[in-house]
Amino acid sequence: MAVHYICSECGTRYSPYDFPYICSCGGMLDLDDFHREFSMDSIIRDEWSLFRYLGVLPFDEGSILWKDVSMGEGLTPLIPLDGNYPNILVKVDYMMPTLSFKDRGAAVLIAKAKEFGAKKVVQDSSGNAGNSIAAYANRVGIDCDIYVPEGTSPKKIDMIQSHGANVHIVPGTREDTANAALKAVEKGDTFYASHVYNPYFYEGTKTYVYEIFEQLHGNMVDTLVIPVGNGTLLLGAYYGLKELLKFGLIKKLPKIIGVQAEGCSPIYNAFRAGRDYVEEVINTGTMAEGIAIAAPKRGNQILKAIRDTHGDIIIAPEDSILKAQRELARRGLYVEITTGATFAAFFEYMKAHDDLGKVVLPLCGAGLKSSK
Ligand SMILES: Cc1ncc(COP(=O)(O)O)c(C=O)c1O
Ligand SMILES: [Zn+2]
Repeated sequence: MAVHYICSECGTRYSPYDFPYICSCGGMLDLDDFHREFSMDSIIRDEWSLFRYLGVLPFDEGSILWKDVSMGEGLTPLIPLDGNYPNILVKVDYMMPTLSFKDRGAAVLIAKAKEFGAKKVVQDSSGNAGNSIAAYANRVGIDCDIYVPEGTSPKKIDMIQSHGANVHIVPGTREDTANAALKAVEKGDTFYASHVYNPYFYEGTKTYVYEIFEQLHGNMVDTLVIPVGNGTLLLGAYYGLKELLKFGLIKKLPKIIGVQAEGCSPIYNAFRAGRDYVEEVINTGTMAEGIAIAAPKRGNQILKAIRDTHGDIIIAPEDSILKAQRELARRGLYVEITTGATFAAFFEYMKAHDDLGKVVLPLCGAGLKSSK
C-alpha cells in the first residue's frame, strides 16, 4: 500500500515512489488518509513488537515486508515512577533495539523505504534517530549516510558506525547538519529517511499510545508529558490519540504537555506568545542534546496538537537537568541526559498543578548513550 503524501499547506499529493521529501510550495508532507482498524481484539497477540498493531499501520493486509525489518521494537514496560507517586507512570522506551524510542519510527519508515525500492538512505539527527535508521537500514541491506552535529555524544557516533553507516560530522549548529543532509539528498536519487520530514516515521511513533492503551486494558491516562525537539513522539502520540478518539475507544484527548530545555525553547516561546507558528531561536547551549532544535520544521503542527488537547508546554531549567537524571538513576532508571530535562521540568510544574490525574512520561534514551 503506497499511501500518498499530501502537502500540509496546499494539499498537493505525491507518490512516495518518487522519493519527494517536501512539497514544491515548501510545505511539509503528511500522510494521506488510509483505512485503519483497531480494537482490543484486533491486536495480533503473538506478534511481540509494535507490528501487533498492524491494523493501524500503513501496510497492506498480508504484507510481510516489515518482518525482515523488525527487531522486536516496542512493547516497552509501563511502570510506576516509584511507590511515592502511584499516579505517575513511566514508559521505559529506552528498552528498544537501539536504546531509544526512535526505533518505533525507524522500523516503520525503513520497511516503507525498502518497499519503495530505496538502495540508499540519508538522514540527519542529534544521534538517536541516526542510530536507529542506521541499524534498521543496514539490517535490510540499504546503504546509509548519517549526518550529525559536532559535539554529538561519541557513543552515539560509535554506534552509528558499528551498524555500518557512513557518519558525517558537521561543524556548526543542528540546522547546519540538516542543511548538509539536504544537499546530499538533492544531489542524487537517495531516499531522505528523515524522522522530521517523512510522515511514515510518525506512524511508528504513534504506537506509543496504542501500547499505553493496551497496557491499561483499554484505558488512557489524563496527561502525557512528552519532550519535544522536532516533535516526532509528540505528534505521533497525538495522531494515535486522535485515532483512538475516532474509533470511540477514548472519550476525550488526554492533555499533552510538551517539554523543552531552557537553552533552546522555540516552541515554548511561540506557545507563551500565543503564536500559531514558531520562530527560530539561537540555541544558547543546553545539556539536553536530543531536544536542541532551534527551528522545528513542524512547529505549527506541534503547537496545534498541544492546544487541541488543552495541554501546555514547559521548560527545564538547565541547572536542574543533571540532578533530575541522577534522581532517576537512584530509582533504577539510567536515562540519557535529555530525559533528565523531561523530569526536571515536570517536577517543577507539578508543584503548581495538582489536577493532572494519571500521568505518563517517557524514558526516551538510555543513559549509556550520553555521559557527564
Ligand atoms: C533522548 C531523546 N529524547 C527526546 C527527543 C525528542 O524527540 P523529537 O526531536 O522528535 O521531538 C530525542 C530526539 O532525538 C531524543 O534523542
Ligand atoms: Zn504544498
